[in-house]
Amino acid sequence: MRNKVTKAIFPVAGLGTRFLPATKSVPKEIMTLVDRPLIQYAIDEARAAGIKEFIFVTSRGKSALEDYFDHAPELETALRKAGKTELLQILKNTNMESGAIAYIRQHKALGLGHAVWCARRLIGDEPFAVILPDDVIAAEQPCLQQMTEAYEETGGAMVAAMDVPRERIGSYGVLDLEDDKGDLVKVRGMVEKPTPDQAPSNLAVIGRYILTPDVLKNLNRMKQGSGNEIQLTDAIADEIAQGRDVYGYRFRGQRFDCGSKAGFLQATVAFGLARDDLREDLLRYLHELVSVEKAAQ
Ligand code: UTP
Repeated sequence: MRNKVTKAIFPVAGLGTRFLPATKSVPKEIMTLVDRPLIQYAIDEARAAGIKEFIFVTSRGKSALEDYFDHAPELETALRKAGKTELLQILKNTNMESGAIAYIRQHKALGLGHAVWCARRLIGDEPFAVILPDDVIAAEQPCLQQMTEAYEETGGAMVAAMDVPRERIGSYGVLDLEDDKGDLVKVRGMVEKPTPDQAPSNLAVIGRYILTPDVLKNLNRMKQGSGNEIQLTDAIADEIAQGRDVYGYRFRGQRFDCGSKAGFLQATVAFGLARDDLREDLLRYLHELVSVEKAAQ
């Protein structure tokens, strides 16, 4: 029997410079998509996939994120007294079991690979998931759950993958494929942020991973890669060089890059439209806006 994946690392120690000045004092992961912080979407996805231990790799200035997971007894009492049961339930759904969350500090933003490595002692000798909260994925079946199901069949390491137009491939880690058939593809190499003409495929790595402790061992070498950062992609690519299996998984769903302003705005519209209480008003506004834009052209 394969070990179940019950631990997830959430690397949230990045500087979030693309959202300055907001990220001067607000961690990017606390910024709200409609009415829930980005981190809540990530937690819900992890819970749906059976994750029981949530490991946050944080840094200076992220205390709002830690506070977010505290229970709020005064608020709960006030809502209960006021008979606001629906809001009370929304609040309670964010409560985490005592001891389920651990915070580890990354003292310097040396890269995603380094952030994951910082959590090595809490992972021990088990497979684990990594979720980047700024990649938000709208899906009928949550993305990580799709991946844990596929992982039960394959073992090895697995990265979420998405087809990306060639002109934009240079912003991603890119998969070199053994054969490109179906949703689950065997990987024979990975390149971080290649130039479009050097990209081995159009299949990009997205911020969901299932990894083995061997990847942490590879990270021990602290090899600097693209942008002089310690890259997670490089440590996964080393797995292949060492003869272990790595898979790409084409998930079913739509990914929003909420680490970028345009992606965040698109996600806000998409998640707003998906809400019954907002859809009608928002759609009307968008129609008006488009007509005004068209008339002005
Ligand atoms: P990004 O590449 O989006 O970097 O990191 P960033 O610092 O968050 O944002 P910008 O580019 O300055 O606007 C991807 C994920 O990896 C984490 C980030 O917190 C984010 O979840 N990360 C990145 C770390 O935890 N530590 C690092 O050293 C780098």
